[in-house]
Amino acid sequence: MIAYCSFLFGWWIPVVSPILAVLGSTMAISAYIYVCRLRELNTILEQTVQKLEAAMSDLKQSQIQIIQSEKMSTLGQLVAGVAHEINNPVGFVSGNLKCIGEYVEDLTNHLQLYQQTFPEPGKDIKNDAKTIDIEYLLEDMPKVVASMQVGINRIKDISISLRTFSRSDTSNKVSYNIHEGIDSTLMILKHRLKANETRPEIQIIKEYGQLPMVNCYPGQLNQVMMNLIANAIDALDESNHGREYTEIQANPNNITILTTLENKIATIRIKDNGPGMSDTVKQKIFEHLFTTKTVGQGTGLGLSISRQIIEETHDGKLSCISAPGEGAEFVVEIPS
Ligand SMILES: Nc1ncnc2c1ncn2[C@@H]1O[C@H](COP(=O)(O)OP(=O)(O)O)[C@@H](O)[C@H]1O
Ligand SMILES: [Mg+2]
Repeated sequence: MIAYCSFLFGWWIPVVSPILAVLGSTMAISAYIYVCRLRELNTILEQTVQKLEAAMSDLKQSQIQIIQSEKMSTLGQLVAGVAHEINNPVGFVSGNLKCIGEYVEDLTNHLQLYQQTFPEPGKDIKNDAKTIDIEYLLEDMPKVVASMQVGINRIKDISISLRTFSRSDTSNKVSYNIHEGIDSTLMILKHRLKANETRPEIQIIKEYGQLPMVNCYPGQLNQVMMNLIANAIDALDESNHGREYTEIQANPNNITILTTLENKIATIRIKDNGPGMSDTVKQKIFEHLFTTKTVGQGTGLGLSISRQIIEETHDGKLSCISAPGEGAEFVVEIPS
């Protein structure tokens, strides 16, 4: 039986073994090539996924920017519309107030003439004068009118600032007074600079140099000023946490705005004496959606959009100098 079996299988083993060996190594080589190819394909796939992810993030970024600029333009139109509508009634209230001021003066003089001509006007008139406290009334009335004039002038200033701030940008750059833009931004942010129960007013130190009119998109430039000043206020408010009112009063919050012309480049420096930032934060601040603020307080869009406006639209530069405890300074450079 054994002899039979070795006759049956034994003869082909030496014949088949080399074939199998060749076949095996061919298969191993094919498998190896196959694995290599798979790896290659995998790398290509990974690269494609990375590219797709980058494209997706770019797309998201542009989408957010489009929404943001659309929002700004709608808001700009709304603000400009409101400013325009306010202008009319403010105009006639202001004009009428001027008339009232003159009438009050005339009537007061006339009344005084009466009093001099008829020092004894009779019991009823004397009683009435006492009831209405005519001396006080005559003294106070011009003051009331003057205070109304101050109020209406303030509304006029706000309306002008709103219109300056919300200038909708044309398709071409226009010649613009940057100082006017900064002033209108400060007026709009006034409510945030004012004193409140936790801190005194934030001091604004303006050191304006001689700047020429600058060719730019005013609405976009004002948006940058707004972002930088609002960030400085946020930083100062954050640094005030846990500090006593008197402590802040002794070392007041301030924002310095310095403008200079250096080699035909209009430079605007916005510096605060807030907490400053660490190197790690500083490296990321211009990244899209980077924020250290809580949800609802920060979007992480301000600086990335500002950098885009200054560097891509205006061929300028937006940079930051800051260290922890040293405040932060943002430098905007625009070719004039
Ligand atoms: N003046 C500043 N002082 C300290 N940190 C600042 C200042 N300005 C900006 N930053 C930092 O940069 C981050 C990004 O700012 P920004 O792009 O305007 O987004 P957001 O204000 O919505 O957080 C802020 O969250 C903050 O951490
Ligand atoms: Mg911001």
